[in-house]
This record gives sequence, C-alpha cells and structure tokens, in this order.
Amino acid sequence: MSQLDFSTTLGNAWFPTPIFTASGCASSGKELAQFFDLRDMGAIVTKSIMSKPRAGRATPRMAETPSGMLNSIGLQGPGIDAFLANDLAWLVEQKARIIVSIAGETAEEFASLARRLRGVAGISALEVNISCPNVENRGMVFACHLESAQNVIEGVRRTIGGDLPIIAKLSPDVTDIVSIARGVVDVGADGLALINTVLGMVINPITMRPQLGGRTGGLSGPAIRPIAVRAIFQVHEALPKVPILGMGGVSSGADAFELIMAGASGVSVGTASFGNPTAIVKIQNELRQILKDKGFTSLREAIGFAHRPESSVR
Ligand code: SIN
Repeated sequence: MSQLDFSTTLGNAWFPTPIFTASGCASSGKELAQFFDLRDMGAIVTKSIMSKPRAGRATPRMAETPSGMLNSIGLQGPGIDAFLANDLAWLVEQKARIIVSIAGETAEEFASLARRLRGVAGISALEVNISCPNVENRGMVFACHLESAQNVIEGVRRTIGGDLPIIAKLSPDVTDIVSIARGVVDVGADGLALINTVLGMVINPITMRPQLGGRTGGLSGPAIRPIAVRAIFQVHEALPKVPILGMGGVSSGADAFELIMAGASGVSVGTASFGNPTAIVKIQNELRQILKDKGFTSLREAIGFAHRPESSVR
C-alpha cells in the first residue's frame, strides 16, 4: 500500500500533520502534554496574548448549549513578558512547533506585540486574532470592519518583516467574509484562520438573566461546523492559493476531512479537547485512515476536493 504524505504548509511554515490546537483551548499545551507528545501534532496554537496581564471578563464564563459551548473568557492571560519567559520558553524546550496568537485593543498594540516577537526563535507562524467576540466594545472586533482589519494586519506585517507567516483569524459574524479575507491578504496576511466563535447568548430560565457574566459569548462546538465549512468553502473558492487553518466543531477525523475538502490546509481542534484531552490524537489517526481509504497519497490532494467537478469524485 502506498505511503500517505500527511504534511501540510501554512505560508512558508511546514508541519508534519495537519491537526493543530485551536487558540485558547489548550493554553500553551502544558495540560495536553500529560496525554501525548506535543511533537506528534501539527502545532500548538497558543492562547491569544496581549501586551499586559489581563483578568478577563466577569464569571460565569462558560455555558453549555445543545451541540455547543458558549465562552466569555475575555482574553485572560499573563501578558507578553510572562508569556515569553514561561510559556514560549517551555514550548521551545518541548521542541513543539508553535504558532503564537496575538490580540490587541488597538492596531498599535498588535504592532508592538509583533515587535516583541520579531526574531524570537522557535515560532513557526503568527496568528493575528482580530476576531475575539468577547470584548466590551464591539467596535474592537477588527475583523468585522474591512479597514480596521487591514490596519491591524498591515501594521503587523510591517513590524514583523517578511519571513514569519501571518495568519489572520476572522469572524463568521459578517455579511461577506470573502471581502474581509481578500482585504487582509492584500495587505500582508499569508493565511487565514477560519472561523472564530459565533456571537451568542444563553438566558438562564431560573434566574431569568443572561447566564454569562459578560452576557454574550462565543459559540463553539459541533453546532457551528456547517458555518465553518461554508466560510472555508467560500474563501477557498475566491482565494484558492491562500492557505486556511480551519476550525469550528471538529471532533472526528470525518469532521476534519470535511473542512479539508472545503479548502482547509490544516484543522484546529478546540472544544473537543475539553471533553477528551486525546481528541487530537484520535482525530489525527481517523483522518489519516480516511485519506488512505479514499485513495489519496497526500493530504495536499484532498485540500479543496469538494470544489472539483463531479467527474473527479472517487
Ligand atoms: C476569549 O478569550 O474570550 C476568546 C478568544 C477568542 O475567541 O478569540
């Protein structure tokens, strides 16, 4: 039986497998490292880091929903200094591949984070999170406005220089995700992370008040997978050369395969890891088997397969 080339690329960064963590769902990977070797996956995408330590939003910050989960964390984190000294240093020691995710309140904050990360060894790519839904000021969701999104990406590109791939993380909460995707690619994004969570709300029938301290939150889990598939399909159709890191409700190899057929070059797993910390290993094994069963000799051949004419169906 022929070997399967399971590797993938995002810009000029190479990864041996296409399965990644989703930013925010595994912090910097320490908890997952109890269950498997972090080198056995594509890369750890770290929790979006900001310039200063940040406490996040009021509790409660999680609510269950049918087939999903609502979070309202509010970008809690230790700030870039502690991140570099502790989390990144630890990940480098583990020899894990690392995608660092950054978030800011202003375009200047994003650029200053890029400055801190410029030239730091061991980073494969930068995820620029311009789509966190859990911010007090909804005007801060840069990815919902073309000019604001471009402003951030342009500043990060200018600051970080030419080599490190920039992956812009976009929100599905827009009318035309393709125009935002095209806009950020035009100003220097090498790839796109699709999709961030979908803005939602749960009202507690007993207290008769919003369940989350922050009222609204980001919906993740299987409920949003069709939204992710749609967004990835639309963007890949318009920008077939731009690599996409897909995410949204993936909990099996078949789910990951669906995002890949839509056009994703890699797939991030988030919510599924909360219920099963070895979900990434399981998904990776299942995906490898599906690709072999379908007769693919490389992951690359499967990327965007659903866009091809019917006659090419296996
Ligand atoms: C959060 O920290 O609130 C979630 C981050 C995100 O969804 O971008």
